[in-house]
Amino acid sequence: MANKGDGGEKATLHVRGESHDLNVLKASIGPDVIDIQNLYRRTGLFTFDPGYTSTASCESQITFIDGEKGVLLYRGYPIDQLAEYGDYLETCYLLLYGDLPNQEQRRKFDADITYHTMVHEQMRAFFQGFRRDAHPMAIMVAVVGALSAFYHDSTDINDPHQREVATRRMIAKVPTLAAMAFKYSLGQPFVYPRNDLDYASNFLHMCFSVPSEDYHVNPVLARAMDRIFILHADHEQNASTSTVRLAGSSNANPFACIAAGIASLWGPAHGGANEAALNMLEEIGTPERIPEFIARAKDRSDPFRLMGFGHRVYKNYDPRARIMQRTAKEVLAEVGDPNDPLLEVARQLEEVALNDEYFIERKLYPNIDFYSGITLRALGFPTSMFTVLFALARTVGWIAHWREMISDPSNRIGRPRQLYTGPVMRDYVPMSQRGAGLGDQVHDTDRNPES
Ligand code: CMC
Repeated sequence: MANKGDGGEKATLHVRGESHDLNVLKASIGPDVIDIQNLYRRTGLFTFDPGYTSTASCESQITFIDGEKGVLLYRGYPIDQLAEYGDYLETCYLLLYGDLPNQEQRRKFDADITYHTMVHEQMRAFFQGFRRDAHPMAIMVAVVGALSAFYHDSTDINDPHQREVATRRMIAKVPTLAAMAFKYSLGQPFVYPRNDLDYASNFLHMCFSVPSEDYHVNPVLARAMDRIFILHADHEQNASTSTVRLAGSSNANPFACIAAGIASLWGPAHGGANEAALNMLEEIGTPERIPEFIARAKDRSDPFRLMGFGHRVYKNYDPRARIMQRTAKEVLAEVGDPNDPLLEVARQLEEVALNDEYFIERKLYPNIDFYSGITLRALGFPTSMFTVLFALARTVGWIAHWREMISDPSNRIGRPRQLYTGPVMRDYVPMSQRGAGLGDQVHDTDRNPES
C-alpha cells in the first residue's frame, strides 16, 4: 500500500547481548508501529501478544478508531456526521472505494446493488433443511457460505471483475437472506425484495410484510434501521474482520470468508453482546435491582459482566453508543413506549456505572450494544435476530477489508506463531508399557454422561 511511511525513526531492541534497530512505520493518525517482520530472521525470537493488544496485524486505510478520545472515522469521516447526514449505501460506497460518491457514481452503485437483491430460487429449498427452531445466526453462517455454491462466476479472487460482482452480490443478498432466516423462524412465507424501496425500507418490507395485508414502511423506522446499519458498518481489525482477513489470506473465496466472519461475530463478547445486553436489562427489570447487578459485575468470583459495557479499544464513551441512544428514543417515540421501563433501567444503570469507582478505574463505558437491543426490539425484531442485523450491516466492512487485503501486493497467508510450552520431544511408548491411566477414566465418563 502507498502510505506506509518510514520516517527514519528506529527502535532499538537489546536482546541476548545484541542490538537490533527496527524501523518505526508512520501512521497518518494514531499510533506508529515498530516493524518486526524480520525479527525472527534476525534474532530467532518471536513476539508474544495473545489477543493482539499491542499488535497491528495489517496496514489499512479504511477505518480509524481513537479509543482514548472516543473517535470513529470511516475513510476519515466522523461516524456522527455519516449517521446524521449520510445513508447506508453511500457509506458502503465510501468504505469500499475510499470516497463519497458523486451523483452519477451513487446512481450507478444503487442500481448495481438493487440488480442483485434476489437470491437463487433454489435457496428456498436450502432453507427447508434447517430445523424450525434453528438460530438465525446458524442459518446465516450456512447460507452465506452456500452462496459460493450458487454463484461460481464470482469466486475467482484473482479476477477484479469477479471480486466486484461478489462484493455487490453480498451487499445486495445478505439482507434478503437475513429476512428469509427471520421469516423461516416465524413460519411465514419468504418475501421477495422490492427494488423500488431504499435499502433499509426494502429490508423492513422483507421482514415484516405478509402476503395477506398491505405493508407500508414507516419512514422514521426505516431511517433508524439505516442509521443502525451505518453505525455497524465497520470497526477496523475486530475479531470478525480479522477472521475474514485470515480466512481470505489463504485465497479462499469471498463468500466463504464472509461466512467465517459471521461465525466469529456470533460470540457474546463480540456481535452477540446486543442480544446479551437486552436479556440482561430484562433480567434486571426494575431500577431497584441495579445495585445487585452492579455488585455482581464487580465480583471477581462471579463470571457475570455488565453486557454492553467495556470495549477493547474504547477507553471512553463509544461514539456509536450516543447515536444509538438517540435512535432508541426516536424509535420508542414513534412505535413503542417512550417511557419503556427498560430504557429507564438502561439510563439509570449507565448513570450508576459511570459514577462507580470500579468502572471508572477500568475505563468501562457503554458500547454500541448497550442501546441497540432496546432499539431493535422496538423495531419489532426478536433478540435472536440482533446479531444477524449486525452481520448484515458489517458485511460491507468485511468485504472492504477483504478487498484491501487481496489487492495489496504484499499480502501473504496469515500464519501466527506461538510460544510453545508443551512436552519436549520424547519417544513413543508401546501400549504394553503404559499402564492404566487417565485415558481409561475419560472413556468411562464418556460412556456414562450422568456420572
Ligand atoms: N463488566 C464488568 N467488568 C468488566 C467488563 C464488564 N462489561 N468488561 C471488562 N471488565 C473488567 C474485567 O473484569 C477486567 O477487570 P480486572 O482488571 O479487575 O480483571 C477489566 O475490566 C479489563 O477487562 P478485559 O476482559 O481485560 O478487557 P477486554 O478488552 O479483554 O474485553 C470486552 C473487552 C468487550 C470483551 C469486555 O469489556 C466485555 O466482556 N464486555 C461485555 C461484552 C460486550 O458488551 N461486548 C460488546 C463489545 S462492542 C461490540 C463489538 O465491537 O463487537
